[in-house]
Amino acid sequence: MSRFTPDTIERVREAADIVEIVSAYTDLRRQGERFVGLCPFHEERTPSFSVKPRDGFYYCFGCEAGGDTIRFVQEKEGLGFADAVEALADRYGVEVERESEDPKAEEARRRRGRLGEVLERVAAFYESYLWESPKAAKARAYLIEERGLGEEILRGFGVGFAPSAWDSILTRGQRAGFSVDELLAAGLIQRSQKTPGSHYDRFRGRITFPVRDHRGRVVGFGARGMGPDAKPKYLNSPESEVYRKSRTLYGIDRARGPIARGGRAVVVEGYTDVIALHGAGVEETVAVMGTAITPDQLKLLGGYAEEVVLALDADRAGREAMLRAQRVAGSGRLRLLVAAMPEGEDPADMMRTEGGSNRLRGLLADAVDLAVFHVRAILDDADLTTPPGRDRALDEVVPVLVGMGETITRQEMVREVADRLDAAPELVASRMKSGRSRPEPRPEPMTAPRPAGAGEQKQPRPRRREPTQEERREAMMLALCMDAPETAAPYLDRLGPDHFTSPILRSVFERIRERPDDPLEGLGESESALINAITRLRALDHEPATKDDLEFRWMLLERDRLDRALRHPEGLEPADLVAMQKQRGRLADAISSVEARGIGGAVPGPAAR
Ligand code: CTP
Ligand code: MN
Repeated sequence: MSRFTPDTIERVREAADIVEIVSAYTDLRRQGERFVGLCPFHEERTPSFSVKPRDGFYYCFGCEAGGDTIRFVQEKEGLGFADAVEALADRYGVEVERESEDPKAEEARRRRGRLGEVLERVAAFYESYLWESPKAAKARAYLIEERGLGEEILRGFGVGFAPSAWDSILTRGQRAGFSVDELLAAGLIQRSQKTPGSHYDRFRGRITFPVRDHRGRVVGFGARGMGPDAKPKYLNSPESEVYRKSRTLYGIDRARGPIARGGRAVVVEGYTDVIALHGAGVEETVAVMGTAITPDQLKLLGGYAEEVVLALDADRAGREAMLRAQRVAGSGRLRLLVAAMPEGEDPADMMRTEGGSNRLRGLLADAVDLAVFHVRAILDDADLTTPPGRDRALDEVVPVLVGMGETITRQEMVREVADRLDAAPELVASRMKSGRSRPEPRPEPMTAPRPAGAGEQKQPRPRRREPTQEERREAMMLALCMDAPETAAPYLDRLGPDHFTSPILRSVFERIRERPDDPLEGLGESESALINAITRLRALDHEPATKDDLEFRWMLLERDRLDRALRHPEGLEPADLVAMQKQRGRLADAISSVEARGIGGAVPGPAAR
């Protein structure tokens, strides 16, 4: 897809109200020019999170999370840069413009837009039909009474009902200006076999579940027949220009925020499972829609989650699907876990039973590493009554154990295996050693022991090392330059890269020199380190920058630079050396006299880093 125009990004930054956006995640109190509150990125009791509406930035002095509105939405809602820009543009009514793209791509995008529009309208039609038509009374009763799904959550997922007529969508769609070709391409109608050249609605007399992409755009439908004997039970949208089942996860649009916040995704089988779990507050749930999880689906989850709990059917098919997941997970950094679902009961059913919600939460909390699950599945299926049977089981188990890497979990599994096979742990261990020589395709070790108590809350970011005194001074200089770009102009000219010991601050310096008025302008996703650094600097506490402050700060940096140069006098001409030492002395005097007068009081406090 082509890039946004820089102007688009600017307009989004301007239109987006950072206080409003952040307030959805934490309570903010006004404090002078800024707003403060508890950090939504790490656990804390006293507020170290601050938002500056004037600049459109947030920054946490505790965990050092920081950035602009776009970054906040990226982090909190688990979106990529482009998606975050579009989401904000949508919300604040900013027209998105793109750099010109090639006509073919532009045409394809326009076409997807049309298909998306008709799908959206049809979803709304089905939904209102479910709640308003007398002909949908049975469907309502089925969903609410028989399936125990609440109206609110059904509405949240846009569940609907397709009328039983042959041409509801065919007629309405065309009346709304969509062509037969577009309705076909959207998978909403199909060609008649009997009467060539005529068409009829695909979904008739069925409960409809709109399937949305991660941004909430309808891409297709799943449609369940009524009652237990409906054939087929589900009718789904065909693959199309907008719908690729293998890349889609049902519920991802609503689950991505909760997944990104908790770091965990729960993967279930079907539509009703997702709705029931969201209804019970397990909002990080998505469904694979009855098939084995695909690499694309894992990749999608990998954008938000660190941990994926598979809560799939316990039957043979479900089990195989889970093991296939291990293969497709490949080298991803996702940790895959399995929650042992009871035979013959899916999550949706469970939620309807007494205490079901707690039972399910328990199962999710007790989820085990996929490799552990795999080992146990092998042992459960093996004939352990005879020594040859146990040997075969050992053969099968060894490569899985080897693949686990050298972890405590594996060590415990070795004991468990030895126990169940009635073998000495040494035998298992020695087979693992010799097993190494057999080249087995090894799954990535996904088995690092979980830190105690982790799982729910993301670990706070590791604190970076304390900045040096020199770095503090460099940072404060840059903060003042950004605060008063005009006054700072002569100093920006005098400063050079060798005034900065920190590489990132040096990049910031170069950036400020390029764009003194708005150093963030035009920075894209790939420059997130720079964006972070600039934001951090903007959040530093200091008095409004004056000429005197800048002069004083400049002298500090120049003195630091001379000190560094003088520490390595080897390559210097003697005359230069003397000149530098003199200059160093003059600076030191000037600095002490300023300090004595008390100017330059903006010496960074502990907040400056
Ligand atoms: N599925 C499908 N086509 C089918 C059967 C199943 O696409 N003929 C997919 C659907 O996404 C379904 C999921 O597989 O949601 C799980 O199947 P199943 O457990 O049979 O259906 P449930 O969603 O549990 O439906 P219900 O609870 O109403 O029986
Ligand atoms: Mn089911």
